[in-house]
Amino acid sequence: MPCRSRDRSRSPRRAARVPGGCCAFEASKNAHRWAAYECHLSKGTFIREACQVRTRVIAGHAQCRTFVLCAEGQVPKNVSKAKNREEQVLAACTVRMNPYRRYCKMWGQIMHMSAREERKGYGSKLVVAVEELLRQEGVDILLAYPAPTTAAQKFWAKMGYQQQEDSFLPDEELIPRYEGGPLWPEENAVTEEPLDRLEKRLLVGGTQWAPREGEIRTRPGGEDRKFREVVWNPLDLRTRKPPEVFLTALQLQALLQPVRRRMRGKRPPF
Ligand SMILES: CC(C)(COP(=O)(O)OP(=O)(O)OC[C@H]1O[C@@H](n2cnc3c(N)ncnc32)[C@H](O)[C@@H]1OP(=O)(O)O)[C@@H](O)C(=O)NCCC(=O)NCCS
Repeated sequence: MPCRSRDRSRSPRRAARVPGGCCAFEASKNAHRWAAYECHLSKGTFIREACQVRTRVIAGHAQCRTFVLCAEGQVPKNVSKAKNREEQVLAACTVRMNPYRRYCKMWGQIMHMSAREERKGYGSKLVVAVEELLRQEGVDILLAYPAPTTAAQKFWAKMGYQQQEDSFLPDEELIPRYEGGPLWPEENAVTEEPLDRLEKRLLVGGTQWAPREGEIRTRPGGEDRKFREVVWNPLDLRTRKPPEVFLTALQLQALLQPVRRRMRGKRPPF
């Protein structure tokens, strides 16, 4: 058996040490959003859907919120520098927020995920941070449709996202958007085959879901406007103000330690 340390030295990747550590937060300023958009667009995976990526990240369309990982002290501040990639984020993650139709709680669908430099642990750090930040807002389930690449498939598997025979979500949340529902199924851009839906349950304290009360606003939606789709107010998609959705480098480090411990014996991705 080859010695483990020798294996590691040959490994194509290792977590990069960022001086001062990394912080993770919701992109609340235009410079953060442009840097996140440029991070996504630096990946071939998202080139075909550049337009949607732009409106989702910059304008928050499709009920999206975007989160970024930055080296501390290198948070993008200037929009033109972010657009020119002179100020960059290490990783970006855009999540569609879905308030449950019947309960006062939310679930999320990860729409775009990218790491500026791959295989350095930035992607996994950001996912751990996003899970924690959303957990703090009572989000209990996250979904992802991995792109049909080895990197994406292995990445989501390592982060604990799995196909579920019985979905964690109630039936009404699994109605696809073309039928007026909240789920955005994804397909392979080339073969048009549906992609696998992976799910992860985040541990959120308490099991009693408060029922949603009052009328929910709807409008014609779905294919050919045949269905009624729910219309949420932007304030329904969060419980905290964007600048408050933040993990400092110390907080993120503390969050990653137990994950590292749980993965002792395997190899933590950061
Ligand atoms: C998918 C992506 C976000 C992963 O981010 P990353 O920072 O490179 O991932 P990490 O370094 O944190 O790696 C975490 C784990 O993912 C898996 N992984 C990531 N890239 C991999 C690759 N190229 N081949 C095999 N496994 C890979 C590994 O299990 C890795 O852990 P390990 O190195 O300890 O084995 C990044 O590769 C990316 O931006 N890809 C292009 C855009 C994309 O496809 N996004 C996903 C759309 S669903």
